[in-house]
Amino acid sequence: MEEDHCIEWIAIANEKRVCKKFLNPGDVAEVCFKYIPGSKIYAYCNKHGLWSKEVK
Ligand SMILES: [Fe+2]
Repeated sequence: MEEDHCIEWIAIANEKRVCKKFLNPGDVAEVCFKYIPGSKIYAYCNKHGLWSKEVK
């Protein structure tokens, strides 16, 4: 995670709530969320944009 290329935030979202963790350059690009099947995980990279994946 460097200043010019890093994951700015990672979030998990479903119909009831959104939990979002902001990250900084130098941080490890990982977070822990409660496992909630049917939710969606989002990650935003300052270079490549938004990525998402459904939690099975
Ligand atoms: Fe990236």
